[in-house]
Amino acid sequence: MGEFVVRGGRRLNGAVRINGAKNASLPIMAASLLTTRPVIIRDIPLIRDVLVMIEVLRSLGAKVEHHDRTLVIDTSHVQQYRVPDALMQEMRASVFVMGPLLARLGRAEIVQPGGCAIGDRPIDLHLRGFEALGAKVSGNPSGTVVAADHLVGADIHLTFPSVGATENLIMAAALAHGETRIRNAAMEPEVVDLAQFLERMGVTVRGAGTPEIRVIGRGDLGGADHTVIPDRIETATFALAVAATGGTVQIDNCEPDHLPGLWGYLSEIGCDIVQDNDSVTLIAPDAYAPHSLTVHTGPYPGFATDIQAQFMALLLKVPGIHVVSERVFESRLGHAAEFRRLGAHIVADQRVAIVYGGEVMYAGRVRAQDLRAGAALVIAGLQPSGETFIANREVIERGYENLDGRLRGLGADIISV
Ligand code: EPZ
Repeated sequence: MGEFVVRGGRRLNGAVRINGAKNASLPIMAASLLTTRPVIIRDIPLIRDVLVMIEVLRSLGAKVEHHDRTLVIDTSHVQQYRVPDALMQEMRASVFVMGPLLARLGRAEIVQPGGCAIGDRPIDLHLRGFEALGAKVSGNPSGTVVAADHLVGADIHLTFPSVGATENLIMAAALAHGETRIRNAAMEPEVVDLAQFLERMGVTVRGAGTPEIRVIGRGDLGGADHTVIPDRIETATFALAVAATGGTVQIDNCEPDHLPGLWGYLSEIGCDIVQDNDSVTLIAPDAYAPHSLTVHTGPYPGFATDIQAQFMALLLKVPGIHVVSERVFESRLGHAAEFRRLGAHIVADQRVAIVYGGEVMYAGRVRAQDLRAGAALVIAGLQPSGETFIANREVIERGYENLDGRLRGLGADIISV
């Protein structure tokens, strides 16, 4: 397992370009299974999870050409309906192929997707939605099977606005007979991007980005040529890295409006933010006046759970008593223990952390438990002088392309070993 080695205490200055969104790319790649025509997906990030999804599609019989940030996917010869266990276990997001396979082939099989560092992550909402569309769901120790001769549009009420369930059900409904309504649907921008991709293929999707989505299925879909939206979580990660170290950075190719709440908190503690179309310039002070914040995560447009850890890394620098409440996943505060190894004073249980910001931070040895917590540890390591070693670098690189190189481009002293 590799490490990032960060020598902190340096301001960040310069400009960085945001890549296409990981969490839009993965469901859109899976949606290519819905049509026999080739699709083109542009501005794909060059990250491990995208490579795994390419392997998943190829294992099902798809032809995938990968030219830099553009994918050309042809699923006309797909016959296989079982995701290889090793790939399913490597990447939970492989679950996104269930809806398209069920709709296209009438069957999908996956080994139970494992939980991960942030929670059990069941797929009951996905499965109940498939049953509403007319599928039979059966499970056994070797996995879950969903099958249907044909799918019929239904009225589906989600008990939680699950992003993955919303996306899987939109995709299944795309080939169902008649109209499907998904109520209490997730409203994340990545859901909207998937809907736009499906509309380009000829599916009628109404209400994406609102709590009620209507899908009118049709039998034969066309191809599509689609550019993925910028990665809002990557945008926030770079913004928080600047806010935690001081300096001025222009963040290009981003959608600031996809991060409700973040910019308000940053200006509240004393950062200046200049927004200009698809770029944001963040001017961060070297130090913050005492100021206590309370943040709780929630489904979009709430404060994104995927930036909670990175935000906590910034709070370590802001003098005050901060409350961070994680309301989306049941155990997504593991990074608090790692921050403590760098001198942080944090009291946390599974869902709520009290952060005593402004304490002296030290360099040290920490370990990335999941993608976003790992990025947060990089932000924490950028603060104190001295060398911080962040183990399990590979888990960070699943979702961030060339993170160390791009931070070096802004003046950070960080290397991969
Ligand atoms: C997506 O995961 C993202 N992943 C996650 O990003 C993100 O944190 C999450 O949405 C929330 O925004 C991708 O898009 C690839 P959920 P997903 O279904 O779809 C519970 C990252 O770092 N739930 O909205 O798995 C679940 O346990 C990743 O990029 C059920 O109970 O998230 C969780 O507590 C991490 N039953 C909550 O809902 C279900 O059937 C939110 O999960 C489904 C979910």
